[in-house]
Amino acid sequence: MKLSSVLLAAVSVAGLAAGNQVSPRKGQKVGVARGELAINQTPDLGYKELWDLQNMFYTRFKYPNNVNEVESINSTIFSDDVQGRVSDTRNFEGRELNTEYIFGLFVPSDAVSIIGRPGDFQIIQFTANRNIASASTRVNFTFPSFNNVSFPVQIDTWLAWNSERRISQYDVTFRWFAYLLPTLIQSLDRERPEEALKTLVAKVASSICDSHETSCTGENKQYDSRQECYDFLTKEIRVGQGFELGMNTLLCRNIHEHMIKARPGVHCSHIGRDGGGMCDDSISYQTKVEEQYFRNSPWVPETP
Ligand SMILES: *[C@@H]1O[C@H](CO)[C@@H](O)[C@H](O)[C@H]1NC(C)=O
Ligand SMILES: *[C@@H]1O[C@H](CO)[C@@H](O)[C@H](O)[C@H]1NC(C)=O
Ligand SMILES: *[C@@H]1O[C@H](CO)[C@@H](O)[C@H](O)[C@H]1NC(C)=O
Repeated sequence: MKLSSVLLAAVSVAGLAAGNQVSPRKGQKVGVARGELAINQTPDLGYKELWDLQNMFYTRFKYPNNVNEVESINSTIFSDDVQGRVSDTRNFEGRELNTEYIFGLFVPSDAVSIIGRPGDFQIIQFTANRNIASASTRVNFTFPSFNNVSFPVQIDTWLAWNSERRISQYDVTFRWFAYLLPTLIQSLDRERPEEALKTLVAKVASSICDSHETSCTGENKQYDSRQECYDFLTKEIRVGQGFELGMNTLLCRNIHEHMIKARPGVHCSHIGRDGGGMCDDSISYQTKVEEQYFRNSPWVPETP
């Protein structure tokens, strides 16, 4: 990303602070007043600003910039009513949870993980209208648990911005994630991919159980012993395919393991037996496809 884009994004935020509010128009949904300013959920930001905001998002997503977002606990890139949906996982409500899943998940940790560290990016497809940008972005990832192998990952996003230049909604698809996963596993042992998978499963389960021992204590405890945890994760549930990161799988619990340290009271249940509402088989394919989730901004703007 060019420095000029960073500066522009900073300037537009500064303009907003100076009271340069986009006024709501007829027919638009207007959010609740907060202080002096009413937040408009569907401002007409224009193509250029949406392009700059898109670049700003990926600049903040990139390691190590994402560490600052994590440390802020509630990233200012999100509105406090933000709603997020990530393909193959679940939906995430509110600023704090989204800061954990969009930024926290992608910072390096001691855990053995299928998640990588995002680096340089290139927006390869982009269009924008009113308050919505739709884009495909290729991000170079490094995977610390796979001998630091690098692969590009294509991330397709629909982002809706409010008049405070905060993301009020996002819908994200990790394109070809189900292809990336076996590619990563094969990178561990090209000749014997089945052995590589076994090794990975053992490492991931150990990692989750270690995190459980360290961080899920007292009423956050999910398993009576490390052995019980390990047996459950390796024998009683599926490893999970690429589309099963929000289902009753080992890989789903691997995703949520990252967040345990930050808020054990919220996240320990996700690695437990019943998956704490994040890792279970309760959502059918049909429900997924027909779900009507987003409330803040229509994804199909009114015809002018
Ligand atoms: C983050 O936001 C949540 C929800 O608004 C709030 O309860 C919490 O105190 C905030 N945390 C920090 C560190 O600002
Ligand atoms: C990603 O990495 C590849 C290979 O290492 C490199 O050719 C490419 O330019 C990188 N992409 C970006 C956006 O930096
Ligand atoms: C991967 O890279 C990190 C940081 O660059 C380094 O600390 C770590 O030792 C590397 N791991 C492997 C397995 O090479």
